Amino acid sequence: MKKLVILAAALGAVALGPITAQATPEEDLKAFRAYFKQKFPDVPFEDLKNGIYALDADRRAAWEEFEDFSPPWEDAVKLGEELFNKPFKNGKTYASCFPNGGIGIKQNYPYFDAETGDIVTLEGAINACREANGEKPLKWKKGKLAAISAYMGYTSRGNKIDIKVPDDPRALAWYERGKRFFFAKRGQLNFACADCHVYYAGHLIRANLLSTAIGQVTHWPAWRKKWASKAAAKSKTGELSPTAGLGTLHRRYGGCNKQVRAKPFKAQSDEYKALEYFHTYISNGQEINTPSLRQ
Ligand code: HEC
Repeated sequence: MKKLVILAAALGAVALGPITAQATPEEDLKAFRAYFKQKFPDVPFEDLKNGIYALDADRRAAWEEFEDFSPPWEDAVKLGEELFNKPFKNGKTYASCFPNGGIGIKQNYPYFDAETGDIVTLEGAINACREANGEKPLKWKKGKLAAISAYMGYTSRGNKIDIKVPDDPRALAWYERGKRFFFAKRGQLNFACADCHVYYAGHLIRANLLSTAIGQVTHWPAWRKKWASKAAAKSKTGELSPTAGLGTLHRRYGGCNKQVRAKPFKAQSDEYKALEYFHTYISNGQEINTPSLRQ
């Protein structure tokens, strides 16, 4: 970790405060917020949830038009609502598995479960609910599971992310594992998440503007043009499913790992669960805006 701080200083960038292996989650949170505030003094904290569109006015204008007038994710959310309310064979529904019947709760995921010692992601809880009710689990990265998660996220819009790292060494170990993942160099290109989404945030990589690590988790499952085009190319009839462009955060993690020519981990692997825990914690205070449109 020390090395990265030195690298940032050498680049003449703003140094990311005391993000050392020893820093507590609270200290990390403060350091991340201070870093981006100093780096982007004109971008309000609340706006970071909009990713690259918080950083670039032209891209934002085009994006807002889509989001406001013809959001491509609308049918996916509708489908998610139907699936969410459709009873299992035993007559129960998803609502029976979640606090507040599953409505408006995304801001509390992922969380550390003291009983099992595990990290519970929203997608993990959806499939656990299915299995507890005698149904087969759904595929993790897209399709029906993504639609249900997108609907649950949609009902949580405006709620502020509120992830806790309780005073339990096992919770802290998950957090630190995620943090190490985030700062570790990987792939043939030898890039860490932090290189692109902290130190080079706001810069271009090829034609892509790089978003800030704070705010990246607020809008998943998201609708990506890239994923919709991929689904379109595969479709034999030319017809697109309502979930064509939809994907989960772990699907996105896989993409960012591949980008640096590293082998992606499996969706819902311990690696990505730990990463999601750390990554979401540092976005505490950001509003949920699931789903959102992205490139
Ligand atoms: C080589 C640079 C690079 C690295 C390394 C990288 N990413 Fe990305 N990432 C991108 C680009 C480019 C995009 C698309 C533009 C954007 O939103 O930043 C992106 C987008 C994302 C998004 C979607 C942002 C949004 O608003 O929808 C997430 C989440 C993300 N990256 C997480 C990660 C994580 C976690 C890691 C480490 C495993 C990582 N990235 C590593 C380049 C990178």
